[in-house]
Amino acid sequence: MPKMTCSHFGQCGGCALLDLPYEEQVARKRAKLQQTLSEFWTGDIPVTVTDDPKNFRNKVELGFCHQVKWRPDYDKKDPANKTRPLEFENALGFKLKGRWDRAVDITECVLFNDKLIPLLNAIRAWAKAENLDYYDQRKHTGVLRHLMVREGKNTGEEIVVLFVTDDFNEKTFVQAVQSVLPQANIMAAVNTGLADTAAPESLRVLKGKDHIFEKIFLTDASGKTEREVVFQLSPQSFFQTNTLTAQKMYSRVRRVVKALAPKRIYDLYGGAGSFSLSCADLCEKSICVESVAPAIYNGIENANLNGVSNVQFFCSKVEDFVKQHPIERKDALIILDPPRGGMHPKAAKAVAESGVERVLYISCNPVTLAADLKILTPHYDILQVEAFDFFPHSEHIETFVQMKLK
Ligand SMILES: C[S@@+](CC[C@H](N)C(=O)[O-])C[C@H]1O[C@@H](n2cnc3c(N)ncnc32)[C@H](O)[C@@H]1O
Repeated sequence: MPKMTCSHFGQCGGCALLDLPYEEQVARKRAKLQQTLSEFWTGDIPVTVTDDPKNFRNKVELGFCHQVKWRPDYDKKDPANKTRPLEFENALGFKLKGRWDRAVDITECVLFNDKLIPLLNAIRAWAKAENLDYYDQRKHTGVLRHLMVREGKNTGEEIVVLFVTDDFNEKTFVQAVQSVLPQANIMAAVNTGLADTAAPESLRVLKGKDHIFEKIFLTDASGKTEREVVFQLSPQSFFQTNTLTAQKMYSRVRRVVKALAPKRIYDLYGGAGSFSLSCADLCEKSICVESVAPAIYNGIENANLNGVSNVQFFCSKVEDFVKQHPIERKDALIILDPPRGGMHPKAAKAVAESGVERVLYISCNPVTLAADLKILTPHYDILQVEAFDFFPHSEHIETFVQMKLK
């Protein structure tokens, strides 16, 4: 596959490995993963790649930044710099590599679909015409803060969310977005907090609805679709950012679950129930434990949407859940999918001592995976390790570990 290029490479925090051909990126990530897990697994680690590593992301979150003009040749020691007045600029894009207070004003991007740049240009022109200030991260001033764009890769639905600190002309904003994405749902979110996150205090619909649908097709080993699952995604719902490779991973986990035929699945760190819903027809009951309440509400809605009635959702931290609800080991299977920080040691210990025959661990961070395997492997043997490249052009990789009680 030929190497991709981007004029922002090296500056933009969106991609770290774009200077390598995709096959080399994957080889490098595989070698690093192999090294990180070498204490536990010395066998081969096959990697399922992203078929088309261009435009694969289903969501981007970009920042509006009012910032001192970037001068790569800036010399602190040059006396002329002491008297030269500061020049400012506006940027809309990913954060500059290693900086929390600066964005790259992107004019191209290989991560999201081809409509992104025309959309950003329309929004830049709208902001200028409306005389709206971009947010200054240091002074905490300005109206325009973040822009989230999300699309259902298997449904074609789109949602655009503008995060602001104050009122703005909603009518002209809708017109600007519609000039590029006529079908998009459009929302406004108010975020006046100091933290630089796209976490809104309030959300309202400017056009269409407050969510989109995404679908995953779960396939058997021959590639034939066995099950479809529909997800309702609101701006805050967690969903894997690479739909097409994620559905390969969910299909793979489903095939393993099908072969094991458990009666009860513990879907720990379950989010909105992706694993539970993917495998609901393969077990009597699935118990989905997730600490974030809106994800649980999404999960309940998604279960209803898919006609699933055998998933029980618990809004709890896994470490608290395992203390209050001892895991019933008979005919059970545990699926673990913790966040980047890994498992709480108490949760890992409870799983290690659960006596459940099979544990499947899905991880987005090999380093914390290795820390958790230290606690799990005195009780469990590793049967297989494989990986999925959900995040082309970045250093990240998703790992899937199958374990069996010793
Ligand atoms: C990597 S996501 C996995 C989501 C889901 N399994 C999926 O495939 O969409 C990790 C999830 O764990 C949740 N989480 C983080 N810490 C947790 C904890 N201590 N107990 C329960 N859930 C937690 C996060 O809110 C997030 O939804």
